Amino acid sequence: MCDSDKLDSAFLAYGASKANNFLDADVLILNTCSVRMQSEQKAFSYLGRMEEFKQQNPDVKIIVMGCMTERLGNDIKKRFKSIDLVVGTKDIDNSISKIIDLCCFRNSFKKINSNIQFRSKVISYITIMKGCNNYCSYCIVPFVRGIEKSFDYNTIINKCSSAVKNGVREVILLGQNVNSYKYKNVDFTSLLKSIASIKNLERIRFLTNHPKDLSDDLINVITTNRKMCSHIHLPMQSASNKILRLMNRKYTYEYYLDLIEKLRLAIPDITITTDIIVGFPGENDRDFEDTLNAIKTIKFGGLYVFKYSPRPNTMAFEMSDDVSIIEKKKRHAIILEESNKISAEIALKMIGTRHQVLVEKVKDGFMEAKTKSGRKVFLKIDKKHYGKIVNIIIKEAKINSLFGDVID
Ligand code: 5AD
Ligand code: SF4
Repeated sequence: MCDSDKLDSAFLAYGASKANNFLDADVLILNTCSVRMQSEQKAFSYLGRMEEFKQQNPDVKIIVMGCMTERLGNDIKKRFKSIDLVVGTKDIDNSISKIIDLCCFRNSFKKINSNIQFRSKVISYITIMKGCNNYCSYCIVPFVRGIEKSFDYNTIINKCSSAVKNGVREVILLGQNVNSYKYKNVDFTSLLKSIASIKNLERIRFLTNHPKDLSDDLINVITTNRKMCSHIHLPMQSASNKILRLMNRKYTYEYYLDLIEKLRLAIPDITITTDIIVGFPGENDRDFEDTLNAIKTIKFGGLYVFKYSPRPNTMAFEMSDDVSIIEKKKRHAIILEESNKISAEIALKMIGTRHQVLVEKVKDGFMEAKTKSGRKVFLKIDKKHYGKIVNIIIKEAKINSLFGDVID
């Protein structure tokens, strides 16, 4: 997400604009993901369509980036001969200039971006670390993104400051496990405190956390600093201790539940979201029931559920993928249904409540804003609110969408 964002900004700066479909495009960029096989298959199918399009429109450039390029290397180029450039994940910043050079093959892009109504960005994604050392047994990330490396503290602060000078009001700090950020003697909480002292920056979020590393210090910073948002993405993966052990997650369900209680006690308006994997090797009906019951007990503010997908090199790849695809689909659907029910309940309770939201973007005829706890709220378009924090009241609720009115 962050890499796409960086490219977006670079292209915008060169006067290009986003095309709505292939026909309008000079450049087709595919940002890929290797985390699940399904994402790779989707990428292959896109590449097929892109190649077909390029046969009719030979001037078009095709660029492929993201972790699939690390996993498959030159094989992608061998299979799809019309790709112009393959960009790895480890060197994205330097590669952006290469991409721009390749694409500025005409003096101007087809569509010059002079007409954008709301130009400056309100939210900026800033990567603070890359890679991961956790080796969860199902996960390909340590193999395609490498071992954990925290980025230079000063560079991060400069990036945040210059984003704010350009109109950004909220930064979202990214890393596979932000809690273990460590650059010289700066740890994650000290980094947050420094970022929070940047003038005119209103909000700070971060993604993603590993339950075993979420510290009391961090909870303390969130409770005491008004710029810290009250949303934590805390992947649980499973609530069966047997499966958690096989996943090499290094915590038990009881530990996870204690953490949730601690967070809710300290930050009453917190939204906790999570990731769940169903159909991990050895997951029987009882293990699955444990996870389903945990979801009913905890009532997450949102969740992503994935069907286990064996990935090469991982420890779980050696285990027998013994839950059938039919069973995986069934479990996936049950979790999704329960989660939608809970989301609808939470959303309904929000009708009539008041919040401060930051107005982030315009989409589908609405302005999109977010509460501090990360709930998306749609508002009527009013240019003067763009990029501002405004008071709103929730008027209407659907499963994942809230609609509100400004009450200033
Ligand atoms: N199969 C299914 N889901 C996976 N995830 C990571 N690897 C796999 C895999 N092999 C999920 C985890 C993680 C999220 C980003 O993707 O839930 O938290
Ligand atoms: Fe993958 Fe996240 Fe585990 Fe790292 S902590 S190995 S990125 S699931």
